[in-house]
Amino acid sequence: MIKMITNPETKICASIAGSTSPLGCLIHNIAFEHLKLNYVYFAFAVTDVENAIKGMRALSIRGLSVGLPHKIEVMKYLDKIDETAELIGAVNTIINENGILTGYNSDWIGAMTALKEVTKIKGKKILVVGAGGAANAIVYGLAKEGGKIKILNRTAFKAEDIAKRFDIKFGSLEELKDISKYDIVMNATSVGFKNPNESLISKESLSSKQIVFDTIFQPLESKLIKEAKEIGCKVVPGWKMLLYQAIWQFEKYTGNKAPVKVMEKVLKEWAKE
Ligand code: ATR
Repeated sequence: MIKMITNPETKICASIAGSTSPLGCLIHNIAFEHLKLNYVYFAFAVTDVENAIKGMRALSIRGLSVGLPHKIEVMKYLDKIDETAELIGAVNTIINENGILTGYNSDWIGAMTALKEVTKIKGKKILVVGAGGAANAIVYGLAKEGGKIKILNRTAFKAEDIAKRFDIKFGSLEELKDISKYDIVMNATSVGFKNPNESLISKESLSSKQIVFDTIFQPLESKLIKEAKEIGCKVVPGWKMLLYQAIWQFEKYTGNKAPVKVMEKVLKEWAKE
């Protein structure tokens, strides 16, 4: 049981998103408790982003995780935006240093840390499917690491916009019929989220030498990841991206090394439900 008794020294962190999810609270509070840190983490469902940020200042909240749909809007209320978050065009973490609020993006760090566990990125031919917030962060990371990227999306102008910003190729979902030339195939759409029977990328289009990455973290093993494993591909499931971005946030909030195993356990238990 997490002790929620605070004192004037307790540092407060929280998530702000359109709806509350218990995940941030679980993962961070258990890690705080594990390291006996005087921190506590709350989850807030927020519609008025401007006043939420004023509240962060007024209450000296140490750190905020920012979830959908506020990752873009929140940027205009901060004092500084980290260069990377500016390039991605979204903030998912805010740190309060003596009243100065700085926005960061740890989504790309989570994705690249997870992918680099199984492969080098430089020079690899990489297919990214999707052009939303997750895809922006992933493409930024891949481009930085020297990947040769093509992006496909259902809505063409969104893929084109990312392609222009990062100087990469783009195309339509029609191209999913033949993806044999790619070393790494990444799903950054929401297809498959909470639906174990849904995938945009068919089993038949994959081959065993390919590495398959999915941003979907619920179910823990998406249809895409399950089928890719059956073929013999190396896989990176979405919960790893989620875990590594949370680890980055935890370390930024506290200055302590994150208890990775403890955080991984609680995340997996939560995603199974
Ligand atoms: P996130 O921030 O999690 O990436 P998002 O910004 O809403 O979420 O992006 C969702 C992505 O999934 C988009 O690329 C979306 O395609 P569109 O840009 O055409 O909307 C994609 N997506 C969602 N449902 C889809 C579906 N049924 N078929 C194909 N793509 C889908």
